[in-house]
Amino acid sequence: MEPRHVLRPRRPAARAAPVVAVLLLLSGCGDAGVDGTPGAAGLRDPYFPKLGNGGYDVTHYDLALAYDPKTRRIDATAELTATATQDLSAFNLDLAGLTVRAATVDGAPAAVRRAGKELTLRPRADLDKGEVFRTRIVYSGVPETVTDPDGSEEGWLPTADGALAVGEPTGSMAWFPGNHHPSDKATYTVTLTVPAGLKAVSNGRPVSERTADGRTTTVWNSPEPMASYLATVAIGTFRTHTGSVRAGTSAGLPVVTAIDPSAADAEADALLARIPELLDWQAENFGPYPFSAAGAIVDRPGDLGYALETQTRPVFPRTAFDTATLVHELAHQWYGDSVTPESWRDMWLNEGFATYAEWLYAEDFEDTPAQDSFEDAFADEANWAFPPAEPPSAENISDAPVYGRGAMVLHKVRRAVGDDAFFALLRGWAAKHRHANASTADFTAYAETVAGESLDEIWDVWLYGDGKPRSPED
Ligand code: TRP
Ligand code: ZN
Repeated sequence: MEPRHVLRPRRPAARAAPVVAVLLLLSGCGDAGVDGTPGAAGLRDPYFPKLGNGGYDVTHYDLALAYDPKTRRIDATAELTATATQDLSAFNLDLAGLTVRAATVDGAPAAVRRAGKELTLRPRADLDKGEVFRTRIVYSGVPETVTDPDGSEEGWLPTADGALAVGEPTGSMAWFPGNHHPSDKATYTVTLTVPAGLKAVSNGRPVSERTADGRTTTVWNSPEPMASYLATVAIGTFRTHTGSVRAGTSAGLPVVTAIDPSAADAEADALLARIPELLDWQAENFGPYPFSAAGAIVDRPGDLGYALETQTRPVFPRTAFDTATLVHELAHQWYGDSVTPESWRDMWLNEGFATYAEWLYAEDFEDTPAQDSFEDAFADEANWAFPPAEPPSAENISDAPVYGRGAMVLHKVRRAVGDDAFFALLRGWAAKHRHANASTADFTAYAETVAGESLDEIWDVWLYGDGKPRSPED
């Protein structure tokens, strides 16, 4: 370690006593690194202002969790690789519950402070803007189930035979420390150790599995960036199957499915078997499948109240495992998972596209034109509670207008630009922001580029307007 780091003040230079500043200047430390300041404790998301943290970007999470369903405890290590985006004297991670046992930055012990869901790490030496660093947190405890503002449950859900982790919008901080805002995407390696006899499934490609001393360790890798809310873990008794699909990719990819045997029946098995065909169909409409693995996780009814588009491997309770929901969650792989909202205000970009995918399925497979689905959505009063781009509060981000009226916006664009341009837009949007983030403003600007004209009337009435237009033709 360079000695100059040791001399750095722990506070902003502006607050350092003048004599200290003079000493620093004299010792040749008057570079930009002197005034390292703490990274922000939140990214000011319009709905979840404390979510995420400023001052660094995570590029990779290496998570290792051992879970014992009997005690419901995890014993875990998280190693994050990150880049400082400012001179940093300290930085925060989001973590709900659990006990931090130790923390290091670049191998040296770091001071740790907890305040609610904010974990503050103060490295021995400031980090320079642009510096790549590794931080390792050893932690353990019984992870929390988080109740959302809308009353639904997420985070870590113990099941009769294991556990299920789902993180939309804020639940992932219940099982690992991180920068838990959708704008900071990273690659992941997840290593799960469970009692032998149980299976442990996560996102991405299966890397290895070995059993020793009565415990099975399974390693999963996600080489494409993922928002933390899309990380999942499913531990329990599962029947797994590995197939493959091309879905517009050159090499093809593994399709790994896992279903709880008590949730399995002929209908569920037939649906799981359709995943490659559905992904091929979606790739024709949306462009090449964006990830190097695919699949699904189906757990028992009651273990989860909703399906979630966890990356590469969406999670379904048996009760929500039907054709429309499968089409919806698979479509999210392009819209939501690969092209991720810049903030939780842009949620309609997830749900509007995924709902529109259901309308396209009805059009292509069930003789129901999207225009009929549009008119049904128009007639449904629940869709008119608020404009999709402006949910009134955090408890409304998964409400009907975000889904149904979001899809109506897309249908209005289709009507305005025609089918050829519209399908080019579906593919072009997925390509333009592949593996990245995008906002509502990015979308409206892009749609207008494709249209070659202003679409303000659509945005004003359908995306931002209060109340219901007089007619579907407005
Ligand atoms: N985003 C999920 C989907 O559309 C649904 C979802 C996740 C949800 N969390 C929720 C719905 C909380 C209501 C409440 O597939
Ligand atoms: Zn959805």
